[in-house]
Amino acid sequence: MAGVRIDASGEAVDEVAIDEQLRRDVREGLSAQRKSLPSKWFYDARGSELFERITALPEYYPTRAEREILVREAHAIAATTGARTLVELGAGSSEKTRVLLDGLVRHGTVRQFVPQDVSGSALTAAAEAISTDYPDLDVRGVVGDFTENLAELPGTSPRLVVFLGGTIGNFLPADRVRFLRSVRGVLEPGEWLLLGTDLVKDPATLVRAYDDAEGVTAEFNRNVLAVLATRLDADVDPADFDHVAVWDAEQEWIEMRLRARRDLVVRIPGADLEVRFARGEDVRTEISAKFRPERVRTELAEAGFALEHWWTDEAGRFGLSLAQAT
Ligand code: SAH
Ligand code: AVI
Repeated sequence: MAGVRIDASGEAVDEVAIDEQLRRDVREGLSAQRKSLPSKWFYDARGSELFERITALPEYYPTRAEREILVREAHAIAATTGARTLVELGAGSSEKTRVLLDGLVRHGTVRQFVPQDVSGSALTAAAEAISTDYPDLDVRGVVGDFTENLAELPGTSPRLVVFLGGTIGNFLPADRVRFLRSVRGVLEPGEWLLLGTDLVKDPATLVRAYDDAEGVTAEFNRNVLAVLATRLDADVDPADFDHVAVWDAEQEWIEMRLRARRDLVVRIPGADLEVRFARGEDVRTEISAKFRPERVRTELAEAGFALEHWWTDEAGRFGLSLAQAT
């Protein structure tokens, strides 16, 4: 397809290295006293499809709320940044990003779009579709992990890095600060970060957003078990685990868990591991932190960004920050 290049950061997507990292994460996470798995392993092709279905659920407001802000502010974002390159981390389908691209194209500065994601299937489909719909844009998809290799992302200055959807909330707090610093580390002073953050609100609304009536989020959660079965030959039956979503009021995050329905032994030959679960035992599969505006401002400042604009949707459910590298 004209105009699209999909690069792995490095050379070809290295399936052996991915399996090795998964093996390490599984050995570490499932041998711990409190079991956990990193949430990035949700996103094989099926996981990315399930996430897209989540974004359309009546209970899952963040995507609609963030889109509402982007529609309202795309022009201001384009005028403030004058971005020549738009870099999107954890881009997924880049559906909402089109709103921003429209604003930037209208403003006339943008030349290049660099979506990056660990999910090759989602990234390739999105990059090809955007290249077709924006023929004057140079689209370079990069398959990779946003906790690594950010310096290899291409693009001429001024760059606008966007990190949407509230994915920043999926980091543990210490990793969050490290991540923001690493983004700052690849930017020049004066370049930009647009950051989406879901906001603290009443727990019932939050829990519903992560435990929908149709059960799509439950399927998304159990998909990590399918990834273990495919990549590491785990003999795990997803039906042996219940989907659980709880609000941790102290940490101000939603926690997704998989809860064993009975006593179990799961063999994972690809990780050379046998894992015992007691009935009712949980594996933490994701945290999704919710923010207060002051915390966003402080964490951005700690990472070397000055907050220029803070916007929310009309209902005040979701925040979008435009920050400049200092
Ligand atoms: N930005 C989109 C998608 C959010 S879903 C939106 O706002 O709707 C989170 C995305 O981040 C998924 O596409 C997933 O594949 C990607 N992702 C998760 N962990 C990642 C990592 N460590 N590196 C790169 N991408 C990651
Ligand atoms: C990608 N991330 C911001 C989503 C979230 O809301 O934390 C992932 C998700 N998990 C369950 N539903 C959606």
